[in-house]
Amino acid sequence: MARVRDDLTTLSGYHSPQVDVDVRLNTNEAPVAPADSVVRAMLNRIAELELNRYPDRQAGELRRLLGLRHGLDPSMLHVGNGSNEVLQHILLAFGGWGRTAITFGPTYQMHSQIAAITGTSVVDLGRGDDGRIDPVRLRQDQARDIVFITSPNNPTGLAESHDTVRGSIVPWCAEADAVLVIDEAYVEFAPGDLLALIDEYPSVIITRTFSKTLALAGLRLGYAVAAPEMVSALDVVTLPYHLSAVTQAAGIAALEQMGAVDTRVAELVAGREQVMSALRTHGVSVYESSANFVLFTPGPDRGNALWDALVMRGVLVRNCSSWPGLSDHLRVTIGTPAENQRFITAVGEALEDIA
Ligand SMILES: Cc1ncc(COP(=O)(O)O)c(C=O)c1O
Repeated sequence: MARVRDDLTTLSGYHSPQVDVDVRLNTNEAPVAPADSVVRAMLNRIAELELNRYPDRQAGELRRLLGLRHGLDPSMLHVGNGSNEVLQHILLAFGGWGRTAITFGPTYQMHSQIAAITGTSVVDLGRGDDGRIDPVRLRQDQARDIVFITSPNNPTGLAESHDTVRGSIVPWCAEADAVLVIDEAYVEFAPGDLLALIDEYPSVIITRTFSKTLALAGLRLGYAVAAPEMVSALDVVTLPYHLSAVTQAAGIAALEQMGAVDTRVAELVAGREQVMSALRTHGVSVYESSANFVLFTPGPDRGNALWDALVMRGVLVRNCSSWPGLSDHLRVTIGTPAENQRFITAVGEALEDIA
């Protein structure tokens, strides 16, 4: 077989293991599909497309509507097939051989995975005892070209302190002319966002997704907000016509029909609080969460056993036990009220099983 690139031989693809069970709470998706009215609006738009033609290369209407949503000029928006592709564009444009990306683990693994694929070195600075970024770790002599923050963080669920970001991270990035990427995939579940940083630091890029609150993980649509010069740099590494006409049409329809998002977010936040308090009642240690998932641990040497016992009861959560710094930790996505109840009951029974 032909030889794969030497630096890729130790990497494997990123997969979330799937098991065929009734209640799947392992990939942080929205628990219910978009409303019928949204799907109909999408289908109507798709039916009008001339699919013999290439799509709008600039995704002009989609970016215009995103601009309206955020009160920004469309030149400050870059779109991609999920925010993962947007992250790839960022690393292609600003990373590469001889450059260094900084992460604060445990965090979203695709940041370091895509960095590695693009030949970018990765230095993980870890976190403080409270699970948040610790400014003491920001050494001046540390090489840094791209700095990744995830807020709220996956898999911990913690939102980063805005004071730490403004007071420590932005100046640290500015000193090295580093790009600051803020991955806000879950920000709609949190009390506030960091969008205003766009006006405060020219090299900031904020990434967002349609996969969570908009319940469109299957559509694969994400975007970045950044200064027009940064967006132009992302354009350079983007393939022509990368975003299909079908994706653009569906995304436009979703933005035109955004009505019920706030209600859906409020329901998930209420579900999150219920799940957290039930876990605590069961004596399980739980992270604070500003996202649509909760990280928890039943204690030393019990994580794998609890995961197995939950699967036996038809409930799949994410087993984070093998991730650095997360032995015996599991992550549960907030589902429908019925799914949350199934999970809570299953945890109670499973904990007795493994006691
Ligand atoms: C922090 C974070 N960023 C980005 C993504 C990827 O989202 P998308 O579906 O837009 O590629 C995820 C997916 O779970 C995530 O957890």
